[in-house]
Amino acid sequence: MSVESAAQSDSDLSPLDPRDRRPQRVAVIPGDGIGKDVTAEAVKVLEAAKERWSLPLELVELPWDADRYLATGETLPEGALEEFQRRYSAILIGAYGDPRVPDMRHAADILLGIRFGLDLYINFRPIKLLDERLCPLKGKGPAEIDLVVFRENTEGAYVGIGGQFKRGSADEVAVQEEIHTRKGVERIVRAAFEWAAAHGRREVCMADKSNIMRHGHDLWQRVFAEVAAEYSRIASRHLFVDALAMQLVRKPEEFDVIVTNNLFGDILTDLGAALQGGLGMAASANLHPGRTSMFEPVHGSAPKYAGLDRANPFGAVLSAGLMLEFLGHAAAAAAVESAVRDCLAEGRTTTDLGGSLGTRAVGDALAERIGAGVPSHA
Ligand code: NAD
Ligand code: IPM
Ligand code: MN
Repeated sequence: MSVESAAQSDSDLSPLDPRDRRPQRVAVIPGDGIGKDVTAEAVKVLEAAKERWSLPLELVELPWDADRYLATGETLPEGALEEFQRRYSAILIGAYGDPRVPDMRHAADILLGIRFGLDLYINFRPIKLLDERLCPLKGKGPAEIDLVVFRENTEGAYVGIGGQFKRGSADEVAVQEEIHTRKGVERIVRAAFEWAAAHGRREVCMADKSNIMRHGHDLWQRVFAEVAAEYSRIASRHLFVDALAMQLVRKPEEFDVIVTNNLFGDILTDLGAALQGGLGMAASANLHPGRTSMFEPVHGSAPKYAGLDRANPFGAVLSAGLMLEFLGHAAAAAAVESAVRDCLAEGRTTTDLGGSLGTRAVGDALAERIGAGVPSHA
């Protein structure tokens, strides 16, 4: 479905209409390091799903990496955001980060440029354990670890406002501002409640540090209370983020939906990745209902594994699965998750999960299952 015809309200996270068979163009941006390795496998899986379900997907690869930036100085090409909005249904991104670009300039321009430029205010990050053996916590399994973090994705500490004074001197001063707007806080909190209501979840927990961030996080407190009052069937709870981090390890089963600001969401979802088996397992979606959305694994470019056929592709593949779901292809999305579960059950994994396969062999195993329609163990 094209952007123009999407008929969703601003906080409606329901998938696009599955009956719509118009072409869906997907921009595939592998990025740097293992971003390239894992994206190749996600594409393999998408191609298999496309063939099996005759999906109207058209994948267009955009080779925007550090090499290109270092050679040309170009980051996000002019007009790219408009092009995404007008001509693409989704963007699948690998990861950014290259040791030759220490200031992350191209990563900031492209990754944050897309998040901010397309106003993808919902960073939807599931924390879902797919196999008990992957969990580092004693006595916890898939029944205990199944929640979603709604990370605010367009403001907070990420706006880059601040400056340095007397740089390099003994009197140096650095200022870095956080921005929180009523509109920005309200829309992410509402999205969390809407999703909880639509998915039969019991509670939304808001995490902040309002005991010390007396201005910005006090706004979160007030807006959260106002929005929560509109959802009488969903319980609401507040925890300071330090306490929440502790509880997430002690009693992950207490959490259904967490909503929080940009920076805390970033940190908590690496912790969440560990609960799912490591950074290689975690998937995410950057959403603004009714607009072109972006899907990416939570992990970075892990330069030490780049090109070595070592990286775990599951996080990227599960992100592609989220993309299929949001593009209205529920059966294909479910098959992607089933294929990952089956590979886990059979030990067909990369070494970070205790297996002995390379990145490409895991991708082949997944694509084979999807293509052949192998019934799931799950
Ligand atoms: P990272 O996520 O790249 O890797 C941390 C460690 O986690 C790796 O060394 C590796 O041991 C493990 N790991 C991560 N992904 C894995 C996978 N798929 N398979 C197996 N193991 C995996 O984080 P970092 O080392 O802090 O950052 C490296 C670069 O990536 C930096 O430039 C950073 O800024 C960038 N980064 C980018 C993104 C993104 O593009 N979304 C996210 C995080 C970090
Ligand atoms: C993430 C990453 C990014 C973030 C970086 C690479 C800008 O850590 O997606 O989790 O902080 O959002
Ligand atoms: Mn992160």
